[in-house]
Amino acid sequence: MDRMIIHGGAPLRGVVELSGSKNATLPIMMAAVLTAEPVIIRNVPRLRDVATAIELLGGLGVAARWRGDHELELQARELIGHEAPYELVKTMRASFVMLGPLLARGGRARVSTPGGCAIGARPVNLHIAGVRALGARVQLRNGYVEAHAARLVGARVWLDNPSVGATENILMAATLARGRTVIENAAREPEVGDLARMLAAMGARITGAGTHVIEIEGVERLHGAEHSVIPDRIEAGSLMAAAAATGGDVIIRGAPLQDLDAVIVKLGEAGGEITPVEGGLRIVRAGTLRPIELRTLPYPGFPTDLQAQMMALLTQAHGASVITETIFENRFMHAQELIRMGADIVMKGSTAVVRGPSRLSGAPVMATDLRASMGLIVAGLAAENTTTVSRVYHLDRGYEALDRKLAALGARIERAPEA
Ligand code: UD1
Repeated sequence: MDRMIIHGGAPLRGVVELSGSKNATLPIMMAAVLTAEPVIIRNVPRLRDVATAIELLGGLGVAARWRGDHELELQARELIGHEAPYELVKTMRASFVMLGPLLARGGRARVSTPGGCAIGARPVNLHIAGVRALGARVQLRNGYVEAHAARLVGARVWLDNPSVGATENILMAATLARGRTVIENAAREPEVGDLARMLAAMGARITGAGTHVIEIEGVERLHGAEHSVIPDRIEAGSLMAAAAATGGDVIIRGAPLQDLDAVIVKLGEAGGEITPVEGGLRIVRAGTLRPIELRTLPYPGFPTDLQAQMMALLTQAHGASVITETIFENRFMHAQELIRMGADIVMKGSTAVVRGPSRLSGAPVMATDLRASMGLIVAGLAAENTTTVSRVYHLDRGYEALDRKLAALGARIERAPEA
């Protein structure tokens, strides 16, 4: 197991290229199960979660072959299994999104329930209600969701809240169902839109992806396709927070401006100057940082996956910021570690008040999840002296070559084996 050692204080400067979106890639890979023909996916980030998804697919009989650094070919000629085992679902919750494709292609699925995780309870009731609405018989046995359906039948599905995973699961299940499915209160995240584009390239008939109402007209079969994954807006926001926290000047190539509205507005309020440039954006922070109010919301609101990075940034703002987390009930685990580095943060329920500017001093810290780890990296880059972030495997799940990208921007960061 590795850790990251950061000697803070260096402003980030230069040009960095984004990788493909992790959260778009994973469900797109699972869509390969829906056809016997090969699918080719480009701009796939090299991440631990992608390796986990390849393992999951391998267990089902899906052949995976890298055709280039970031180009993956998957083919589910014939399914030899219908299970997403606990060992994989517990390390990567997104595996649960295999439920829909397995049911649609083979008529049965046995998918482990994920259990709670570091950031909250994260139930899967909406996924289950969705496939039930499409006619699947579902029971919970031995910690697994077992579902059967000779052929799914299109239906109206209303989501209590716009869950990203549930929307993706139902969307994939509905592509091969008989008749029309309407998902109401669907998630509008750009990653759902990217999955819908992949499915459309495979022959699915989908309208409304990116809005609250998605309609799917089921087809008899899907075919092979080629698709290029959208750039990672969360990686973009993470690098923007790091640039702003260090008083840097960074050009982020590939930054999807249209997907970053809330992030650009909030970083702008805090004192980042963001301008579109050819093929991406530039973020400069010359003056002092200002405190802001921030509330995480479903897209197009401010993403919960950038809350930890913003909290780290706001420890450097002059005044009191208020952060409210509305998506996950337990997503302030990074705050205690930031406090150990010298931050002034008071939490009550889902709200955190961050008073700055704090002189952060390096400390050994560790995080409980992917985005919290990135928050600690941002803090370490802004801190005096040395910060060691352990449990780097969290970062490897979702950030490709993070240490190399940050080092190329002038950060003094190295990866070393755990002491
Ligand atoms: C996805 C993202 C994750 C991001 C999250 C919210 C992937 C692989 N992961 O996770 O990075 O933080 O969206 O933007 O894309 N809920 C229920 N019942 C359900 C499903 C969800 O109550 O059946 C609740 C959750 O507990 C949570 C909220 O809905 O409070 C949003 O969760 P959801 O959108 O499902 O997140 P994920 O798809 O798991």
